[in-house]
Amino acid sequence: MWLTLLYGCAGGAALLYALYRWVIPSVVQYHAGLALVWHDTIVEGLLNTLTQTTRPQRMLAAVQKNATRGDPRSVVKAIDQFCRQKEWAMNVGDEKGCILDSVVTEVNPATVLELGTYCGYSTVRIASLLPPDAKLITLEFNPHNAAIAQIPSLFLM
Ligand SMILES: C[S@@+](CC[C@H](N)C(=O)[O-])C[C@H]1O[C@@H](n2cnc3c(N)ncnc32)[C@H](O)[C@@H]1O
Repeated sequence: MWLTLLYGCAGGAALLYALYRWVIPSVVQYHAGLALVWHDTIVEGLLNTLTQTTRPQRMLAAVQKNATRGDPRSVVKAIDQFCRQKEWAMNVGDEKGCILDSVVTEVNPATVLELGTYCGYSTVRIASLLPPDAKLITLEFNPHNAAIAQIPSLFLM
């Protein structure tokens, strides 16, 4: 009787984990609205409550743990890894990031205005490709995101 209950609980937990980790993310990836509800409302809300931290804070912790000061690409890599292995986030990401890199390299701008910093992923990506005398202005209206975004930029120096 107890053994059956134990197996039942373990099986239920394994099923829930598989749904959370693989099944639902695989299904919702084909529908932008569902993906947003799953990743940005359900999962983010759940993890915020369980860990008493926010997603930008968790992302920053991954940067602080895995990136190296003076190596902006290590910040990009740490955030990409966090988003691939842990949590989805609304950074431009690696695929579109490569397009962004090509445009910045091709145009070689003296001034860049970025609208929407979030946690500073694209900011660091752009800044790492600019000549030393270029100016990068990035705007973020969410003060929590803006506070987090200042830290990845420290890895530029
Ligand atoms: C898609 S995210 C930006 C992602 C970021 N560029 C990256 O790749 O890491 C959009 C961000 O824009 C911010 N935002 C939206 N409307 C804004 C506005 N009117 N002024 C400033 N920031 C804004 C949001 O708070 C959010 O952090």
